[in-house]
Amino acid sequence: MLISFEGIDGCGKSTQARLLTETLQAEGRDVLLTREPGGSPGAEEIRSLLVQGAGERWSPETECLLFTAARRDHLERTIRPALAAGRSVLTDRFADSTRVYQGTARADLRAMVDRLHALMIGVEPDRTFVIDIDPVIGLERGMARGGAEDRFESLGLEFQQRLAQGFRALAAEYPDRVRLIDGSGPPQEVAARVRSAL
Ligand code: TYD
Repeated sequence: MLISFEGIDGCGKSTQARLLTETLQAEGRDVLLTREPGGSPGAEEIRSLLVQGAGERWSPETECLLFTAARRDHLERTIRPALAAGRSVLTDRFADSTRVYQGTARADLRAMVDRLHALMIGVEPDRTFVIDIDPVIGLERGMARGGAEDRFESLGLEFQQRLAQGFRALAAEYPDRVRLIDGSGPPQEVAARVRSAL
């Protein structure tokens, strides 16, 4: 299976992706944990162009092309080979992030995002978990982390609220694939919600 974790900045999805990986590995499954933007050497190089620097460094259109280029490399070099070898792949973000960040929250580009996805990526995860939390809490966590990778956090609370709405709308748009998980409470409680949903 290909499983993705999605949500706003600071929602805890990276922790949840790691916890689910550990749980599935303890159950004896061969699982690869990977992330976007990144997950392959070329895509990790593109990542630094995307997550560092000023909020308005790229236009939404250019940003969309860079994320799609990174995803294509990730798919070719990491995801497809792992699936072909019979492994399960868990990815911290995938195409839904582009649908919501570039397609809805930064600009109204969803039609372009969908066309690029169909042309260059063409696959959906078997399951997607959206970790849903209050944007105020997410932004506090994201900023508290510090470091240079805060380009999207720097766009502010209103932007995070648009993102949260976008991810909820996506869960309604793809009810067979996307599960909205209550992200409040201790990480282990959230992890138990994810495992039972899976
Ligand atoms: P990520 O490393 O998941 O950051 P965090 O752990 O803070 O959630 O992703 C980096 C940033 O890139 C994040 O703010 C979301 C953004 N992003 C997009 O805007 N579009 C995309 O397609 C992807 C994959 C990420």
